[in-house]
Amino acid sequence: MVATALASLTTLPRVRLAPHPTPVDTLTRLRAALGPSCPALYMKRDDLLSFGMGGNKIRKLQTVLAEAMAAGADTLITCGGIQSNHCRATAAAGAAQGLRVVLVVNGVPQERPTGNALLDRLFGAEVRLVATRHDRAPMMDAVAAELVAQGRRPFVIPLGASTPIGAAGFAQGLEEVLVSGLRPDVIVHATSSGGTQAGLIAGCALFGLDARVIGISADEPAHILQALIRDLLESIAERLGGSRAAVGIDKEIVVDDGWVGEGYGIPTADSIEALTMVARREGIVLDPVYTAKAMAGLIGHVRAGQFSAAETVLFWHTGGQAGLFA
Ligand SMILES: Cc1ncc(COP(=O)(O)O)c(C=O)c1O
Repeated sequence: MVATALASLTTLPRVRLAPHPTPVDTLTRLRAALGPSCPALYMKRDDLLSFGMGGNKIRKLQTVLAEAMAAGADTLITCGGIQSNHCRATAAAGAAQGLRVVLVVNGVPQERPTGNALLDRLFGAEVRLVATRHDRAPMMDAVAAELVAQGRRPFVIPLGASTPIGAAGFAQGLEEVLVSGLRPDVIVHATSSGGTQAGLIAGCALFGLDARVIGISADEPAHILQALIRDLLESIAERLGGSRAAVGIDKEIVVDDGWVGEGYGIPTADSIEALTMVARREGIVLDPVYTAKAMAGLIGHVRAGQFSAAETVLFWHTGGQAGLFA
């Protein structure tokens, strides 16, 4: 069943947006700063995915875009916050495929767009602003209906491209880790709409890597994300024609929501420390909304003695640095 699912995964249609594997860096100086009980630390640099300013959304969009093209879409519609990395990546993907992109975003309008909002416009996306995150889905439906009435063929990409196909696109990234020769015991990453974590869990199971995947939440409570990730894994198994076990659904889904602080995008003392420490020890830039909190979680786990010094921990850098310039 694993072999069938793996074959389906590797042949899943995709639009190659970023054709090169991302590097895996060794975090020697960060490890030294965290003391002798710190495990070996590595970082998978998906912030360096060579398209549209990179980040985890590029992997998911490669398979989702193939789905959209197969459906004959001429317009992509998606949603997010005003500084959404996913919206920016979708805007870039649409531009590169000659598709129109409509972004439904919530937030306070900016007189002079910054960060991802600036990039959305640079990539030529049309932006429709709504007041709250609850208004996004109905507005996407309204935009889709409006476009259909004009004779266009819109394709709606749900929040974060965290669909089973998007998550399966992410699972492919695990092959790059194995090819690099690293076999981590633990993978730590930022989680929010669940697609990245579902992809990592499925990828580990399919490529035969027995690693604990720890998602550090940027906003949602753990139980909500765990349910979301479980549903995604069920659908991935169905889509790839594998058993539930083949995509790792029988393993515990670990989400740590202890690093959110006051809320989404609001820095904490720990996230500021993590962002600063990684910049000053490694010359690597994290983002303030997702990866700084995820790194704060990793550092917190090291300090609490939750890893053994003999283990290998891979931090999956999911990008998002445009958020620093928001
Ligand atoms: C930079 C960054 N890291 C991590 C995440 C979380 O990924 P996911 O939504 O797949 O859980 C996101 C998006 O939400 C993101 O933009």
